[in-house]
Amino acid sequence: MSKIYIEGGRRLAGEIRVHGAKNSALPALAATLLCRGVSVLHNCPPLLDVTASIRILEHLGCVCRREGTTVTVDSSTLTGFDIPDTLMREMRSSIVFLGAIAARCGQARLSFPGGCELGPRPIDLHLAALRQLGLNIQEDHGLLDCTVQKRLSGAVINLSIPSVGATENILLAAATAKGRTVIHNAAREPEISDLAAFLNRAGACIRGAGSSIIEIDGVYDLHGTEHTVIPDRIIAATYMAAAAVTGGDLILRDVEVSHLTPVLDSFRAAGCLVEPAVKSLRIAAPDRLKPVGTVRTMAYPGFPTDAQPPVLAMSALADGPSVFVENIFENRFKYVDELARMGAKVKVEGRVAVVEGVPALSGATVSATDLRGGAALVIAALAASGVTEIDEIRHIDRGYADLENSLREVGANIKRE
Ligand code: EPZ
Repeated sequence: MSKIYIEGGRRLAGEIRVHGAKNSALPALAATLLCRGVSVLHNCPPLLDVTASIRILEHLGCVCRREGTTVTVDSSTLTGFDIPDTLMREMRSSIVFLGAIAARCGQARLSFPGGCELGPRPIDLHLAALRQLGLNIQEDHGLLDCTVQKRLSGAVINLSIPSVGATENILLAAATAKGRTVIHNAAREPEISDLAAFLNRAGACIRGAGSSIIEIDGVYDLHGTEHTVIPDRIIAATYMAAAAVTGGDLILRDVEVSHLTPVLDSFRAAGCLVEPAVKSLRIAAPDRLKPVGTVRTMAYPGFPTDAQPPVLAMSALADGPSVFVENIFENRFKYVDELARMGAKVKVEGRVAVVEGVPALSGATVSATDLRGGAALVIAALAASGVTEIDEIRHIDRGYADLENSLREVGANIKRE
């Protein structure tokens, strides 16, 4: 099993290019199923979850080609409507295929995406919304057997939580449904706007994506199209934290600065100089980081839950206490015990973590508990004295492509064995 070794204490300086957003690429790949023809997606990051999505598409009969960061999907050869349990378990976000398969095939068979390291991740909102659109769903022993009588039909859907995945499933199912669908309390994340942009380019009629009310006028079918996935805002926030903890000075290229607004204040509060430019951003760290105050994770445009672990790791080195309130997922502080092995002082009670802030961390043997928790360990290790050994890095590989090379090029002493 591979491990990452980091000898900390090196100042990071230089430029890093931020790759495409995993959480945009995955629903966009599911959306290619709706396009009767060839779709081309650029800036698809070379990640395990992207590979898992391609395997699902191939299982369904699509012909996929991956060249660099461009993925081409020909869905005209689609034959299947089921996703086997093994593929469903590889990636929790596989549930986003449900709306697309049901809309395209009139039926779908797949299993629940399974348990999760962040706490329970129910799909009740996805299922309730799809039922409103006319999908008949039988749940039996963890299997979802779904049929549509003729064609899905538009509906008014009020989401009790602005769920990202549920909003995506509705967009996918409603794009070719009969009539108008209106989503109230829709998720407003940039990844939703990106999915709507892809679908509109393929012939869909979606208005309001990025706001909390989205209207979709169903069209008969969609055609193949070409689309470039937006930059990954969480990767950008992670590299910002890396610059901050190493007293560094980094320029991040290929970022969408407006998507980073919710995190910029935390870095400024920590005393970092943040200079946004067009598609790039410079961050320069102070001699000693200041505490970030209270960070509450919220749906977009609030502070993103996915940036909580790297920013908490940064705060572990601040000159004073910070507080993190996790409002999105029940169990997103698991990595904190691993940070403690490196000398971080963090007390967790339920959804609240109080970070004391220490002058230095020291290298240790630690284990990535989940994707962003793993990224937090990398951040802490970059600042720690001595060597940190991180195992279970498959979690990190789900969301960070070429992490070691990117960090090595700006001065980190990091290797994978
Ligand atoms: C997406 O997950 C992202 N994943 C997550 O990224 C991200 O943390 C999350 O949105 C929030 O921003 C992808 O885009 C692939 P939700 P998703 O539905 O869609 C509850 C990462 O590290 N809920 O907005 O699963 C749910 O339990 C990750 O890249 C229900 O109760 O998130 C959670 O508490 C992990 N019932 C809240 O809503 C439902 O049917 C928000 O979840 C659906 C969700």
